[in-house]
Amino acid sequence: MKVLAISGSPRKSGNTETVISTMTGILEEKGYDIEFIRLNDFPLQGCQACKYCRTKGDKCLLDDGISDLLEKLKEADRVIIGAPNYMGAVSGQLKIFLDRMYSLKDSNRISRVAKGAKGVLVFAQGHSNRDAYEKSYSSVMKIVESNNIEVTDIIVAHGVEIPGEVRDKNEIMEKAAEASANL
Ligand SMILES: Cc1cc2nc3c(=O)[nH]c(=O)nc-3n(C[C@H](O)[C@H](O)[C@H](O)COP(=O)(O)O)c2cc1C
Repeated sequence: MKVLAISGSPRKSGNTETVISTMTGILEEKGYDIEFIRLNDFPLQGCQACKYCRTKGDKCLLDDGISDLLEKLKEADRVIIGAPNYMGAVSGQLKIFLDRMYSLKDSNRISRVAKGAKGVLVFAQGHSNRDAYEKSYSSVMKIVESNNIEVTDIIVAHGVEIPGEVRDKNEIMEKAAEASANL
């Protein structure tokens, strides 16, 4: 099983990455093949709205690492996508990637992602109410699911500010372990 894990956090040992790396560790033990990507490591260029992907070609016209990553997404069996909450929404790093996912669909809005993939979404937020940003997270889920990736779990690391402090939140870490088992 090819697993593509994508983090939209700039903090290497932050809460988003702590949850994602716990999950990928479990999946690695199951024998899955893991590729971890930190979006912040790329020069991030947003969608240029040229619509090449929907009119002339079958992929994004931009020649960069995000286009390469989108090609990998088309072939992944399992996907983990995570981001911190910034200003009530996902980080800009992930938002750019989500916009670029526009290029995954053809002129009939049919996704080019291979059917059968499963995925988990991971969000980290300072707010202690898990459901405070539900609308924002479910909009990410819609984008992912409209691309043939069944979202089996959404992990919200809530009430976390200090990098990695989610490790001490047993309930959240147990949910992350369960989500890995379901993948
Ligand atoms: C620019 C910025 C904006 C933030 N805005 C919010 C917010 O609106 N709501 C919230 O609950 N937490 C907010 N936070 C807190 C982060 O979501 C929280 O620290 C989270 O654990 C960061 O994830 P990370 O550790 O993976 O980087 C913000 C943090 C930053 C740096």
